[in-house]
Amino acid sequence: MEGLLEKRLVVVAGKGGVGRTTVAAALGLASARRGKRTIVCEVARQERMSRAVRGEGVGFHETELAPRLFAISIDPERSLEEFLVDQVGSRRLAGVLFHNRIFEYLAAATPGLRELATMGKVWELAQLERRRRPDSPYDLVIVDMQATGHGLGALRTARTFGDVARVGPVRRRADMIDSFLRDSRQTGVVAVALPEEMPVAETIEFAGALHDQMGLELELTVMNAMLPERFGGAEAEAIERVDGEHGAPLVAAALRSALSEYHRAGAQREQLEQLRAGVESEVVTLPYLFEPDLGLDDWELLSHELEQRL
Ligand SMILES: Nc1ncnc2c1ncn2[C@@H]1O[C@H](COP(=O)(O)OP(=O)(O)OP(=O)(O)O)[C@@H](O)[C@H]1O
Ligand SMILES: [Mg+2]
Repeated sequence: MEGLLEKRLVVVAGKGGVGRTTVAAALGLASARRGKRTIVCEVARQERMSRAVRGEGVGFHETELAPRLFAISIDPERSLEEFLVDQVGSRRLAGVLFHNRIFEYLAAATPGLRELATMGKVWELAQLERRRRPDSPYDLVIVDMQATGHGLGALRTARTFGDVARVGPVRRRADMIDSFLRDSRQTGVVAVALPEEMPVAETIEFAGALHDQMGLELELTVMNAMLPERFGGAEAEAIERVDGEHGAPLVAAALRSALSEYHRAGAQREQLEQLRAGVESEVVTLPYLFEPDLGLDDWELLSHELEQRL
């Protein structure tokens, strides 16, 4: 983790529902605790983190949620407009160029434009010299990536664009974004997986694609939501022996559920081994928290777990 939090940008990738937002928030808290000015970017208009902390989303504004921990919800349209304002040097002119549904039109005609605009804003946040002088730089930017294809498309988009736009400001910006993302001294990719067969297979596949298509290696893999191993094999056998004989239905049900959890926890450990064998990076685990919806306290707890395991 030391190495990870020393980067300028950490990309948290994974399929839908595996715990990207949870891991991004936990990493953000760990980083802020170390005194780093940190921002977590949510990209898919979900704003789950800011809603859990503040009761409302933060929108396209850098907002401090906890000491030194900021959040922003990145709007691709606003990001592209910002870029245009910088290019033409006038908010009014950029506004004229931009409105009348031009973004929607352009985005429909240009695959990857949304992703490029999003990654452009992420890149801007990660620069030590911010576009507007009064904006303070961040020590670390963490992106809670979109789920589609683990976010690989968004990571690759700058390269794709750079190839299409041969010259000009878009090309220059796309090239800068692309080289920043590919520079492992500055950017670290964290994959999040769940201890089940499909998510594990997909995470291994993602690690391979990241290597083949971006020349990047995973900096860290997080196996999220691991059930505790409450007892060992001998104890499980003892429960199994009692189960058949026990007359009280409630007790029998409790024993059966204990056994099924024991088997699930075991299957999860097998998946953990699969994952460790399939990815090059270190794999750390986070426990399953028996809470209906995770909030700031839970993320604090998980952030300490992450720190201990790294
Ligand atoms: N370790 C955990 N223990 C218990 N619940 C968890 C854990 N990690 C995540 N969850 C819960 O699982 C759900 C999905 O987690 P999270 O929102 O972090 O995933 P995500 O990958 O960001 O999902 P999405 O694709 O919807 O953005 C949430 O309700 C969250 O509170
Ligand atoms: Mg999420």
